Amino acid sequence: MKKNITLGKNIHFPVLLNEVENLCSNIQKGEFLDCTFGGGGYSLQLLKKTNSKIDAVDRDKNIKYIADEIKKKFPDRFTFFNQKFSQIGKTFKDKKFDVIIFDLGLSSYQLKDLSRGFSFKSKDKLNMNMGLSDLNLIEVINSITEKNLKLVIKVFGEEKEAGIIAKNIIKSRTLDKISNTGDLVEIIKKSKKKNFNNKIDVCTKTFQALRMLINQEISELLNGLVEATKLLKIGGKILVISFHSIEDKIVKYFFKNFSLNKPNSSRYLPRNNKKNNILFEKFNKIIKPSLKEIKTNPPSRSARLRYAIRCKNNFEFPNEFFENFKDYINLEKVYAKK
Ligand SMILES: C[S@@+](CC[C@H](N)C(=O)[O-])C[C@H]1O[C@@H](n2cnc3c(N)ncnc32)[C@H](O)[C@@H]1O
Repeated sequence: MKKNITLGKNIHFPVLLNEVENLCSNIQKGEFLDCTFGGGGYSLQLLKKTNSKIDAVDRDKNIKYIADEIKKKFPDRFTFFNQKFSQIGKTFKDKKFDVIIFDLGLSSYQLKDLSRGFSFKSKDKLNMNMGLSDLNLIEVINSITEKNLKLVIKVFGEEKEAGIIAKNIIKSRTLDKISNTGDLVEIIKKSKKKNFNNKIDVCTKTFQALRMLINQEISELLNGLVEATKLLKIGGKILVISFHSIEDKIVKYFFKNFSLNKPNSSRYLPRNNKKNNILFEKFNKIIKPSLKEIKTNPPSRSARLRYAIRCKNNFEFPNEFFENFKDYINLEKVYAKK
C-alpha cells in the first residue's frame, strides 16, 4: 500500500463520526481509549475537538505509520499500541478511562489492500489475517472437516447455502490445494444457486465467516467488552459500533443484561438488582446512520452504535455473558478438530 497518504477520509471513511463526537464531547480533558484505531478517523477527530489524551490500539501493524503521523501532531496526547483489544486489561492495568470506543470489523484500508485477501477482487494468496492471528487460512481451509466448515459458514456467515459451498470447497481441495483467493471466489460463485440478497456480493457471507474464524473475532469481542468495562471509570462511557447481526447481538446482550434498567424477566416478579451483576447505568437506544450518511458512504448502512455508562458497582466477572455465547466460542475452535 502507498504510505504517503495524507490523514483523513481517503484511508477510511469513519462511520457515525458526528454521533461518536457528540457522545464524547462532554469530556473535554479526559482519558480516551480507541480500541480499533484503523485509519485514525475517530482518534484524530477527538484529539482535534477535545483536549483529552487518547491511547489507541489496533491489531494491524500496517497502520502504524498513520499512528506515527498523528503522534507527530499530538505528541503529548496520543499513544499507539499494536495489539488485540482482548489484551487491553494487561496493557492498561493501572489506568482508568472516561471513554472507550470499539468500531468493529475491517477498515477500507485493509479491504483495498488486495494482498490481505479480504476482497473478492483479490487474486492473491488466501490470507484474511487482520494482524496478530496465529491461524493461517490456507492451512485451515485445506484441513478443516466438511461438517465443521459448513457450520462455520452457516453460523458465522449466516449463509443459507453453506452446505453446498463447504462440499465444493472440499471437492476442489481433493484435486488441488486451495491457496488463492481467486480460486475460493470461483468455488463460491459456482456453488451459489441464488443470490438471496442482491444488495451484497455472493461471496460476502462466506468471506465474513472465514474472516471471523481466522481472527477469532467472537472471543476478541467478548473479552474486549469485558476488559473495557473493567477499565472504565465510574460514569465512563463505552461505545461500540458493530456491522453485522452477530456482533450487534453480543453487544446488545451485554449492555442490556448488565444494566440497571434491564427489563424484568417477569412483570409479576419483584425487581431484584442485588442478585444480578450490574455493570452499567443505563441500556441506551441503538443509533443508526442518517440517510445522508448512507448516501455519501454506502458501507455505513449496516453500522449500529450502542453505548452504556459504567455504574458505581464493583466489577464482578460476567460469567453468564460467556456462557450465553459458548456455542460461538466453541465454533471458533473447530478448525483444529478432526
Ligand atoms: C472499522 S476499522 C476502524 C476505523 C476507525 N474507527 C477510523 O475512524 O478510522 C476497524 C479496525 O479495528 C481493528 N481491529 C479489529 N479487531 C481488532 C481486535 N480484536 N483488536 C485490535 N484491533 C482490531 C482492525 O484491524 C481495523 O483497523
